Amino acid sequence: MNKPKVLLSRRWPASVEAKLQALYDVTLNIDDHPLSADEFRLALQNYDAVCPSVCDSLPAEVLNAANKRCKILGNFGVGYNHIDIAAARQQGLIVTNTPGVLTQSTADIAMTLLLMSARRGAEGDRLVRAGAWTGWCPTHMMSSDVTGATLGLVGFGRIAQAMARKAHHGFGMKILYLKPSPADPAVVDELKAERCDSLEELLPQCDYVSLHCPGGNETRHLINEKTLNLMKPTAHLVNTARGDVVDSKALIKALQEKRIAGAGLDVYEGEPNIDPGFLTLENAALLPHLGSATIATRTAMGEKVVANLKAYFSGKDIPDRVA
Ligand code: DGY
Repeated sequence: MNKPKVLLSRRWPASVEAKLQALYDVTLNIDDHPLSADEFRLALQNYDAVCPSVCDSLPAEVLNAANKRCKILGNFGVGYNHIDIAAARQQGLIVTNTPGVLTQSTADIAMTLLLMSARRGAEGDRLVRAGAWTGWCPTHMMSSDVTGATLGLVGFGRIAQAMARKAHHGFGMKILYLKPSPADPAVVDELKAERCDSLEELLPQCDYVSLHCPGGNETRHLINEKTLNLMKPTAHLVNTARGDVVDSKALIKALQEKRIAGAGLDVYEGEPNIDPGFLTLENAALLPHLGSATIATRTAMGEKVVANLKAYFSGKDIPDRVA
C-alpha cells in the first residue's frame, strides 16, 4: 500500500523530520521559504496531510481549494489563529496543534522580555556595542525593580500560569489575572493570585502586564490607545501571545510619549514586517518570535505533530484535535 503523502510547510528539527520520513512519504520544503497561497492550494490537492505553522496563512480562500486530497492539517505550534477554523470545519478538514510542550520556553521568553524592558537590557546592549558607554555613574540608566512588583496576566492559561510561577516564586511578584472564570483554586492558592473582571480593573494596578490570550478577531487590538491609557506611566507591557492583540500604532505612540515606561515584544502585527516605528524606540525590547525556539521544545512540537498524524492515519483518537 502507498504511504500517505505528507508536506511540511517549513523545515523542522532533523530528528523529527526523520521520524516522519520513516512513517510517511514526506516532502520537505528544501529551501525553507514561506509557502504562498497558491503553493498551499496545490498542497491541499496533492497531499493527505499538510503541516503548517504560525508563519503561514490559511484563510478560507485557500482552504476552499477545489479537488482537495488533504484531510488533516497537523499544525506545528499551539496557536492556530493563522488557520480559518470555521472554514476548515466546513471543508471537513481536521486541524491539530501542539499544546503543553512549549509552555516553559514561552514563559521563559516572556520573563526575559519583562526583565529586559524593566532593566533596560536592550538599550544597554545597544549603548555598549555603539562604543557610547562612558563608565559607571550613579545616575546612569536607572530602571525599575522587578522583585516585589505587581504582574498582571491577560489570559491565565498554561503559559500565563508558568510565567506567574516564575514571577511569584522567583521574584516575589504579586499576581493579578484576567480570565472570564476563576482559575483552579490550587493554582490561585499557590500563587496567591487575584482575579480581575476587566482590563479596566487590572491595568491600573500593574507594574508589568503580560499578554497570554489567543489571537484572532475576539482579541484584536485589546490593547489600544484607551487601554494603554489605563496603565501606569511606570508600567511595562510584554507580548509573547500574538501581534494583533496590540494596536501597534497606539503602542508606538504611548512609548514615544512615555505614557508607559516600556515594552518587551516577541510578536508583531503583520510579522515579520514590523512597523518601522518600533525600530527607533529606545524603550522597546524586540525579539523575533522566539517563544518556543529551543531545540528541545521545537523537537517536542514536532513529536506532537507526529503523534497526531499517527493517530489519524491509524484511525485512533487524535490527541490534540482543535477542529
Ligand atoms: C505557537 O506555537 O503558537 C507559537 O507562537 C510558535 O512559537
